[in-house]
Amino acid sequence: MASKPSIHRDQRLHRKDPLLQYGWKRTQCLKQNLMQGTKDKVIVITGASSGIGEATAVMLAERGAKVVLGARGLERLEGLARRIAGAGGEVAYAQTDVRKREDVTSLVNLACERYGKLDVLMNNAGIGPISPLDDLRVEDWENMIDINIKGVLYGIAAALPVFRKQGFGHLTWRARLGCAPSPSAPRPATDVG
Ligand SMILES: NC(=O)c1ccc[n+]([C@@H]2O[C@H](COP(=O)([O-])OP(=O)(O)OC[C@H]3O[C@@H](n4cnc5c(N)ncnc54)[C@H](OP(=O)(O)O)[C@@H]3O)[C@@H](O)[C@H]2O)c1
Repeated sequence: MASKPSIHRDQRLHRKDPLLQYGWKRTQCLKQNLMQGTKDKVIVITGASSGIGEATAVMLAERGAKVVLGARGLERLEGLARRIAGAGGEVAYAQTDVRKREDVTSLVNLACERYGKLDVLMNNAGIGPISPLDDLRVEDWENMIDINIKGVLYGIAAALPVFRKQGFGHLTWRARLGCAPSPSAPRPATDVG
């Protein structure tokens, strides 16, 4: 007897419902597009040493992107780069403090020199210390402005000329542009998300 073609468990569960079936097929299609769309893309990620940046770097490298990682914590970057390279990924990294414009420019240059182009700059580095305004943690406020706002602007300043020259490129950042009245420090105004 001919064996039945194997069907993914979710597809089997959904096959009686046309709407769910459509959703399942669309998810598969999106997954495939994501895999194909990411392969060989050169992606710079700031704030890649932990959290969202680290997880994004690992995921993109698994999907075939060439990731270029920046953060202040060099040891964590080295460890992450070893992990990615050990799994067969393409990775470069440089110690980067996004408060320093020259660091951000160097990171973008590293991507262009190593891989010949820049497809995406992910302005991911960010901090979000929360405190009541009357704690007057002015240093935190200044840091948030320097990292969450000026750091992103330095990224734009570094990447846009490259994108113009190439004729392509994407910038991403996690910016909240609005600010509701809040008793906490100015995080809502500067948060990148
Ligand atoms: N708007 C939203 O919806 C939303 C959602 C989630 C998170 N966020 C915000 O996004 C940020 C990141 O979240 P997360 O969970 O990934 O936090 P996380 O684990 O603390 O990661 C922050 C990353 O930014 C890097 N970083 C901090 N200051 C830097 C600087 N001056 N130069 C370069 N890199 C710097 C850190 O690396 P080094 O310390 O090694 O430099 C680290 O890699 C936080 O500020 C969080 O509040 C916003």
